[in-house]
Amino acid sequence: MRHAWLALRERFFGLAPWDASRIGDEWFRAHFDYAAEVVHAWLADALDLRTARLLNFGCGDGISDLALVLRHGATRIHGVDIRREYAKLPRIAREQLGMARIPAALTFETIAPGTALAGRHQGFDGIMSWSTFEHVQREQLLPILRDLHTCLRPGGVFFLQIEPLFHSPWGSHLRRYIETPWQHLLVPEDELWREIEAHQGPIAADEVDFGFADFGVDGYKRFVFEQYRELNRLTADELVALVQQAGFAVQRQERRSVDVQPPPELVERHGAEVLRNNEIFLLLRKGE
Ligand SMILES: C[S@@+](CC[C@H](N)C(=O)[O-])C[C@H]1O[C@@H](n2cnc3c(N)ncnc32)[C@H](O)[C@@H]1O
Repeated sequence: MRHAWLALRERFFGLAPWDASRIGDEWFRAHFDYAAEVVHAWLADALDLRTARLLNFGCGDGISDLALVLRHGATRIHGVDIRREYAKLPRIAREQLGMARIPAALTFETIAPGTALAGRHQGFDGIMSWSTFEHVQREQLLPILRDLHTCLRPGGVFFLQIEPLFHSPWGSHLRRYIETPWQHLLVPEDELWREIEAHQGPIAADEVDFGFADFGVDGYKRFVFEQYRELNRLTADELVALVQQAGFAVQRQERRSVDVQPPPELVERHGAEVLRNNEIFLLLRKGE
């Protein structure tokens, strides 16, 4: 009801005013500017964001969704996630943009990991997923990808990005605390944890998400380390094989690599290409 009222109000009076010059938080900026721009650049070739119904799988705090509406004209985005970070979005939008209400174009939902969406959600024109699929448990990858395939309309597209890939220099997602490249592939887990525990001082501003304050310094270390342990360690080749198995056609693909020389013992184990490949972008299509 409240949502319908908001939508009606927006139709007559427009979106609440916002001002990007107020942005002071680097995490916000990285998502509001960079991430949303990349998603837009990939999706806009295939869809008209002004009319498309979009799903964001693993929406996190929803900042990119907000930017897609405010900066790129999207009108309907449903975000799903296993956490409720998106509940902070109204406060974040107030603080960073001076925006009194988030747009009615945005809806969010918390799901249990692996919950099928297709029973309730069908006919999306586009799906996006940013830095999420490396966190999905391995055995859930294929069922989730099949479910997302079912959620799309025939001819619909799915933009999927992962960064950093597990085998890349900072693929542990622990760079906030450990600068040494490939350290997670070189030392045992308890040594990694000791390095994190011993870390003192601030962490890079664009790595401090809005969940940091909930955890505190030590709690955040434990949270980030647990996230590391749960990474599915997917390679780009494995991801491409899985999306194809789920029924998607790969319409466009880009892999990025870092220009750092991996240690010889790791090259022997994993191959230099896998070790240097830190990011993958895929534009997938469901057949007509
Ligand atoms: C690194 S965060 C990225 C969040 C957001 N896309 C962004 O760019 O800020 C990964 C997100 O994936 C979510 N996630 C992990 N496993 C998931 C699953 N099985 N289903 C839905 N979301 C999941 C996490 O809760 C988290 O919000």
